[in-house]
Amino acid sequence: MLTVAITGATGYLASLIQLYNRGRFAFVPVSRSEVDYSHPEEVERFFRALNCDIVLHTAANLATAACENDPVGTGLVNRDSAIAVARACADKGRRMLFVSTEQVFNGRTDAGPFDERAKTQSVTNYGRQKADVDAWMAANLDDYVTLRLSWMFGMALPHVKPSPGIVGNVLATLRSGTPTRFTANERRCLTYAQRLADQFDRICDLPAGLYHFASSNDLTTYEAARLVAARLGAGEAEVERLILPDTERYAERFRDFRLDAGKARAAGIELGTFEEDVDRCLADFGW
Ligand SMILES: NC(=O)c1ccc[n+]([C@@H]2O[C@H](COP(=O)([O-])OP(=O)(O)OC[C@H]3O[C@@H](n4cnc5c(N)ncnc54)[C@H](OP(=O)(O)O)[C@@H]3O)[C@@H](O)[C@H]2O)c1
Repeated sequence: MLTVAITGATGYLASLIQLYNRGRFAFVPVSRSEVDYSHPEEVERFFRALNCDIVLHTAANLATAACENDPVGTGLVNRDSAIAVARACADKGRRMLFVSTEQVFNGRTDAGPFDERAKTQSVTNYGRQKADVDAWMAANLDDYVTLRLSWMFGMALPHVKPSPGIVGNVLATLRSGTPTRFTANERRCLTYAQRLADQFDRICDLPAGLYHFASSNDLTTYEAARLVAARLGAGEAEVERLILPDTERYAERFRDFRLDAGKARAAGIELGTFEEDVDRCLADFGW
């Protein structure tokens, strides 16, 4: 059985992957208490000393505002420490799986979806930090898989706390009865996170390289929120009252950072459409 060291081990995607793959892989969870990603030299030493076959690096500071306010501190975590993990992997001859993001394309002014050959262009530090790691890995590693994820969604499970996602955000809106605005000037892929956990073994076996991992979507985030509300059982009047368009955000430039996942699909990774993913998620949780 392959031993997989997994960073950010208590985070959403890492917890979900571990929960559904326990029998297939021996996981070595690495959490914040064991290694501080603000100190890349310590990180490199730690991973050189660790015994494992593969490192799955999910740890990151995802907060866009934190990345804008503290580019140096978050750069150590999101960029320099990820590269430190990659260096240790290269020296030890281990495969590194790195989790990157659609946000590497949030500065593009043309329409998506973008495939792996598209040039990254980001207007946020978070996107630029991740793009730097993607580029470093492609230039310096032989055995790696970089997965660029779209915005993921799912629901809570024991010991699995989802990051904010479209289904959770709409559910919270309906439950609280508080009218909430969803971005109308944005189109991005929205993917059920369970797809990642279910196909982790296939991901480990992918030929080395960069892959976009996203179900397809043509809706704006506002339209997607309306669809989710309806699928959750909200009537038309309730949808009208609670799911509001945020037309101010990104009014200066429509954001389209959808990912083209054709390469992953061709390599045997199953991805669907946003609508299929919502239905699957709701069915899994007994809706
Ligand atoms: N969720 C999405 O929609 C999405 C989309 C695209 C890409 N991604 C990427 O997927 C990965 C996982 O995302 P997620 O949604 O699972 O995020 P998450 O739940 O916030 O998990 C991130 C993990 O990173 C750890 N971490 C953050 N800063 C750290 C630091 N300075 N030192 C040590 N550990 C630190 C956190 O530890 P604590 O729990 O101790 O804070 C947490 O366990 C990230 O790399 C993210 O960029 C996610």
